Parts: sequence; C-alpha cells; structure tokens
Amino acid sequence: MEPITSLNYGNNTVFVYESTGDLKAAAIDHIAQYAVDVVAQKSIFSMALSGGSTPVGIYKGLVGKKWFTTFPWQQSHFLFGDERYVPHDHEQSNYKMAMEAFLEAAPVSNDHIYPVPTDCEHPDDCAEIYERQLKEGLKGQQQADGLPVIDLVLLGMGDDGHTASLFPDTDILNESESAVAAVYVDKLDSWRISMTFPLLNMARQVMVLVSGEAKSSVLADVLRSQQIKYPIQMLDNPNGMLWFVDQAAASQLQQR
Ligand code: 6PG
Repeated sequence: MEPITSLNYGNNTVFVYESTGDLKAAAIDHIAQYAVDVVAQKSIFSMALSGGSTPVGIYKGLVGKKWFTTFPWQQSHFLFGDERYVPHDHEQSNYKMAMEAFLEAAPVSNDHIYPVPTDCEHPDDCAEIYERQLKEGLKGQQQADGLPVIDLVLLGMGDDGHTASLFPDTDILNESESAVAAVYVDKLDSWRISMTFPLLNMARQVMVLVSGEAKSSVLADVLRSQQIKYPIQMLDNPNGMLWFVDQAAASQLQQR
C-alpha cells in the first residue's frame, strides 16, 4: 500500500495514507517485511508492541493470510513498550490485548513473549524485573550502554502528545539511566510501567502510528514546533522515526 504523500521533518519521515485502513495495511506490510529482512541478517527479530486501539487491526493483520506463513514467528521476540499496572487478564491489559489480537494465534513460543510483570509489592519492583528480563532475553543482541538494541519499537501517540506511558509532566520523562520505569499518571489515577527514552532512542527502528482527526492539531505541532512541548518530541532516535498516519490525522499538517 503506497502513501498518498510522504513528508520530512528533521529525522521524522511521515507517510500519509488516504484512510485508516490503508495506514493499517501499509503498517502490516512494513512490519512483516522488516521482520523477514532482520531475521535474514541476524536470525532474531525483537519488537516492542504498543498498547492502545490503533495497533489492534495491525496485530490481527500480522496473523492474516497474507503474512502468516512468511512472518518469522519462531525467531521473533515480542516485548511491550508499556503496560498498565493491572492483572494480565484485566480488560485494560496491553498483554491481554496483544495475546487476543495475534499472539495466541501465532506459532510463538511463550519464552519469546515478554509480558510486563504487574504483581509486585510496588510497581518499581516490577519495572526493575522487566528490565532484567529484557536484558536477559536479548543478551545475545547488540547492546548499547548495557541495554538491548530492539529491532522495532511500535508506538502510538495520545492527543496530549504522550507515547508509550511517557505522559506530560511525569518524572519518567527525565529518566536517563533505567531502560524501564514505573510511573504514576495523575490524570489516569493509575500506575503504568514503560520503556524509557534511553531504550526507545537506541532502537534500530521506531515506528509511530497516528490515526484520526482528534490528533491532527497535536501531530502538526509535534512535527513542526522547534521547541519540545510534548513527550513524543523527546524521541530522538539517530536512525530516525517513521510515522504512519492517515489523512485525518495529517489534515492540519498539510494545511500549514
Ligand atoms: C497505551 C499506549 C499508548 C497509546 C496511545 C494512543 O498503553 O495506551 O501505549 O501510548 O499508544 O495512547 O492510543 P490509541 O491508539 O488508542 O489512540
């Protein structure tokens, strides 16, 4: 699926698709082909999954008939970019969402799926455990500052410019050491566990999905403003960021 246009803002490459359906079809093809290419190079593909609603159709597409037999399931490791601090069977759980959308249907071994632990005495403990699990599970992978280089990080963006669970006005935005941290999000009145910018910014590839008119104003501001006003602008991956957006989300972007 080809974009109707592509735009560049610094190291952000924005692919604009006519509809949400086209965005999802393109994202499915991009993720699957990238996984095939990475496994051809180094026999393991690691992907950090995003939560939220936008990726659900994309996850389902990965186990659809177009890619099911081609996707390198046996060599793939599925991590979570963030998680709500709820039991894994809770309706808010990103793990539950991803399992139901595609991981239950895919021939992926359980030890290649990395759910974020959410049953500790304190969320900080679970964040530390998760960081250890990621380092252990991906120890054979390229490292930078002792942290694993994830092949693909899939992210969404909220209409407040958050990504993963990196919300405005939270301490986690300033985390410069840990790869994973717990954060209490006042406006949600709940704990989250999230990968931090040090880990996200060393990934081999970062892909951001943005769909819908409601995000058009923030998306235009995020990509055009010089100063940092939103957490997602703190994504500064030297490999650049790929944005897959629909026309509705890009509507204000193209007007200015
Ligand atoms: C989460 C996500 C979060 C999400 C954005 C966009 O756990 O909810 O990690 O960062 O990607 O809020 O969500 P939608 O795709 O539902 O708009």
